[in-house]
Amino acid sequence: MGKALIAGNWKMNGLAAQAEALALAVREGAAEVRDRAEILICPPATVLAMVARAMRGGPVMVGGQDCHMKGEGAHTGDISAEMLKDAGASHVIVGHSERRTDHGETNAMVMGKARMAMNFELRPILCIGETLAEREQGRAREVVQDQMSNSIPDGFEEAGGIVAYEPVWAIGTGRTASEDEIAEMHSFIRSLLGSRRMASVPILYGGSVKPANARAILALPEVGGALVGGASLVAADFLAIAAAAP
Ligand code: 13P
Repeated sequence: MGKALIAGNWKMNGLAAQAEALALAVREGAAEVRDRAEILICPPATVLAMVARAMRGGPVMVGGQDCHMKGEGAHTGDISAEMLKDAGASHVIVGHSERRTDHGETNAMVMGKARMAMNFELRPILCIGETLAEREQGRAREVVQDQMSNSIPDGFEEAGGIVAYEPVWAIGTGRTASEDEIAEMHSFIRSLLGSRRMASVPILYGGSVKPANARAILALPEVGGALVGGASLVAADFLAIAAAAP
């Protein structure tokens, strides 16, 4: 496995001044963790171009949080993959559970978004994960398998695609999945990727990753990095997570 990817999903947080200060603080500390982790920040679209300009020439990469499945046209309020590329993004998160829930995104839509990202040479970070009810019903694997087969497009590996396993019940709840739960699901995801000849696709874990649990999580087999929400809004915490990469 290569270096860990530590990705910060800022979600709907960050006015211009605050976003710039946070990005600059991440850039400042990124040099120190460079040999163990690649660092990506995904700010809101309104500040993405500004943040990307501020990160230019440094080790911190910038990504979008979503893109549309169509290339352009009459889609008020939406953002295309090409726009993100144009604004300086290298990656884009697609299929985050908050998008699936808040915007009714289906696996088919998520696949369309990933395809569009790939068309514009953005690396998709495709999120999958079961809800608490699904886990309690013993359906976690079934749900993950369904999301994987129906949202990951062919050519994903060649395009630098990344999978993020984010159990919905661990997002923003402070309740991290146990090491056994993470290891078990990552190994299952690895086997599913293998059966599609996508064995080298990195698998990130997301859901209440913090400095206190990062070392143990990042050391698990088949965990190629972390997708961090809340803790990515505090530069010191985000950098401490990166520094915990093996
Ligand atoms: P938290 O780290 O706040 O739980 O969020 C995880 C997440 O959804 C990242 O995409």
